Amino acid sequence: MIEDHGENTAPSAPADPAGETASFGFREVRASEKAVLVRGVFDSVATRYDVMNDAMSGGVHRLWKSAMIDWLRPRPGMRVLDVAGGTGDIAFRILDKANRDVPEGKAAATVTVCDINEAMLSVGRDRAVNAGRLDNLDWIVGNAEALPYADCSSDAYTIAFGIRNVTDIPAALREARRVLKPGGRFLCLEFSNVDIPLLKQGYDFYSFSVVPQMGRLIAGDAESYRYLVESIRKFPDRETFAGMIEAAGFSRVSARAMSGGIVALHSAWRI
Ligand SMILES: C[S@@+](CC[C@H](N)C(=O)[O-])C[C@H]1O[C@@H](n2cnc3c(N)ncnc32)[C@H](O)[C@@H]1O
Repeated sequence: MIEDHGENTAPSAPADPAGETASFGFREVRASEKAVLVRGVFDSVATRYDVMNDAMSGGVHRLWKSAMIDWLRPRPGMRVLDVAGGTGDIAFRILDKANRDVPEGKAAATVTVCDINEAMLSVGRDRAVNAGRLDNLDWIVGNAEALPYADCSSDAYTIAFGIRNVTDIPAALREARRVLKPGGRFLCLEFSNVDIPLLKQGYDFYSFSVVPQMGRLIAGDAESYRYLVESIRKFPDRETFAGMIEAAGFSRVSARAMSGGIVALHSAWRI
C-alpha cells in the first residue's frame, strides 16, 4: 500500500506573493509552480521511466547506482530512507545487499521509499509485488522539503537523481539532516558537470539532440526529457553542491565524480 501524507503531496500552484522564482529546466517559473510542473513530468514518464533509463544511459545508470550502494555499505538492522525513490531501484539494491546474510537474532535492514509522485511509486510498488519483495519495504508519498518523518529516525538517507527536481534544495538538505540519527549517513547521486572538453561536446550533442528524440519514441514525450536534460545543466557543480550540503549542517562532506563527471556521488555525515 502507498501511504499518502496529504500535507506533503505536490501542491497545486498557489499564488506566489513573494515573487520567488525557480528554474524549471532553462525556464524561470514561479517557485510555487515548479513542483506542479515536475509532477507533470514524472506523471507522464512513469510507466516508461525504467526502460528509458536503460536506453538513455546504455544501462550505465545501473553501475552508478551500484557504486552508490557500495559506498553506503548497507547492513542488517539499518533503517534507510530513500527520498525521490521513484520506481524503487535504489531501495531494491540496498535490501539485496544488506539482507543477503542476516545473522541469527539480528533484524533485517528496512527501506522506506518516499517520493512526491504517486505514479512513480505505483510503478515501483508493482515491480516489488511482481518480484515478491513484500518485506522490509514501505512506499510513502512525501515531499523532500517537508519529510513526513520524525527527527533522528534514520541511519541513512539516500537520494538518486532526485535532488535537482526539488524546488528548495537547501530546505531538502536540512530535512535530510533532521531525519538522520547522529552518526547517520547522507548519500546523493546526481548528474554533474563534465569537465573534459571533448567528452562535453559529445555529451551536449547527445543530451540535447538524441535524448529528447528517444523520449519521443520510447516514452511518447520529448518535452519531459528536454526538461530532464536542461535541469542537469542548471544543477550546481560538485564544489558548490558540497558547500550547500555543509551549509545544511552536515560534516565530512566529500564528492566522487564518475564517468568523466557525468554524475557525482556526494557523501556526508550527521555528527
Ligand atoms: C529521475 S527520478 C529518480 C528516481 C529514482 N531515485 C532512480 O534513481 O531511479 C526523480 C524522482 O524525484 C521525485 N521528486 C521530484 N521532486 C520531489 C520532491 N520535492 N520530493 C520527493 N520526490 C521528488 C520524482 O517524483 C521522481 O520520482
